[in-house]
Amino acid sequence: MPKSPFSRSVAELLSLSLLAVWMLGASHQPRSLSSKRLDIPLGLDAYMPVPEDNPITPEKVTLGRKLFFDRRLSRNKRVSCATCHDPRRAFTDGRPVAAGIFGKRGTRSAPTLVNRGYGAAFFWDGRIRTLEEQVLKPIQDPKEMDMTLAEASKRVRISTGELAAALASYVRTILSGNAPADRYLNGDREALSEEARQGLNLFRGKANCSACHVGPNFTDERFHNTGVAWPEGRLLDPGRFTVTGNEADRGAFKTPTLREIARTAPYMHDGSLISLEDVVEYYDRGANRNPYLDLELRPLRLTREEKQALIAFLQSLSGKICEGLRSP
Ligand code: HEC
Ligand code: HEC
Repeated sequence: MPKSPFSRSVAELLSLSLLAVWMLGASHQPRSLSSKRLDIPLGLDAYMPVPEDNPITPEKVTLGRKLFFDRRLSRNKRVSCATCHDPRRAFTDGRPVAAGIFGKRGTRSAPTLVNRGYGAAFFWDGRIRTLEEQVLKPIQDPKEMDMTLAEASKRVRISTGELAAALASYVRTILSGNAPADRYLNGDREALSEEARQGLNLFRGKANCSACHVGPNFTDERFHNTGVAWPEGRLLDPGRFTVTGNEADRGAFKTPTLREIARTAPYMHDGSLISLEDVVEYYDRGANRNPYLDLELRPLRLTREEKQALIAFLQSLSGKICEGLRSP
């Protein structure tokens, strides 16, 4: 992990703010800080990196949430962030590839935004390093919202810096945890069915999924070639190669989180796999062959029951999505 300017956790920053509020005394009780907090759900890391120069505050989160649903950020005022990252679909759009302004199609699928506050690189190819930079990209993308930053900030009457800070702060509050799998791993033996428990063992064992989908967010935040971009031996999307120029990165993409996975079909960077059954079949046959296929992938030879069990486990990764700051 590269050394980053991030050093304080959200919890720490909020408790510092709360301390400041307390020290100001009751007579200066400010609007909201004392009554709002960010809850990190069960299963996630209590430490979330937040840049020193953009601490999470209730004001920014509230503003960022409004902006997230604000269609004025698109040229024709019809597309908002939520068009492609719909909270009712676990912050995805249900389409294979995203459709933006005037229905223009991109080439990649809109990923879920849950737990992106823990991310170290953004977009499927990881070309962006911070959420503050990331959230401005769709606004400027001619196929997504198609605005200049000057136009966007004029429409919403705040500076580009404030826009980025608010949207990034809101995205950091979008969290998914407390799924049956979390409760099971935290000692509630009843939280998973026997089938899902078998699935968990396969996930970590014979099926080798945890070679890449690891940690509280079920991702190593690294880039791997899983062959999805190489159907029939043709490379359709260079992926990570565009960022690094390394031959071996041709067709490599960032490992996505598996949280809420049952709710975010279709799957993969190009939305080419329709269901979890398809995904499991894809891995079971050892993925699409190509010169740079990750060494962790090979035919799994799972039985029918094992495939079902693995899917049952994946389904147990849907929990409760929280967003924004909530009253305790
Ligand atoms: C037209 C659909 C569309 C709109 C509108 C849109 N996004 Fe996205 N978003 C995408 C797609 C597609 C990707 C992945 C693109 C890629 O990897 O090249 C993405 C990626 C992201 C990511 C990176 C997630 C990750 O795992 O790396 C974040 C964060 C994000 N969008 C936030 C936003 C915000 C905030 C807005 C509003 C300002 C927004 N998006 C508007 C489609 C959209
Ligand atoms: C070598 C690393 C690696 C291994 C092993 C691996 N994955 Fe993945 N997984 C990835 C990457 C990288 C992607 C994104 C690939 C793409 O879109 O081109 C992905 C995508 C997925 C997706 C789609 C996520 C989405 O949001 O679209 C699912 C579901 C998934 N993997 C489940 C599994 C399961 C189940 C296993 C075990 C059978 C497994 N993975 C093994 C790296 C891995």
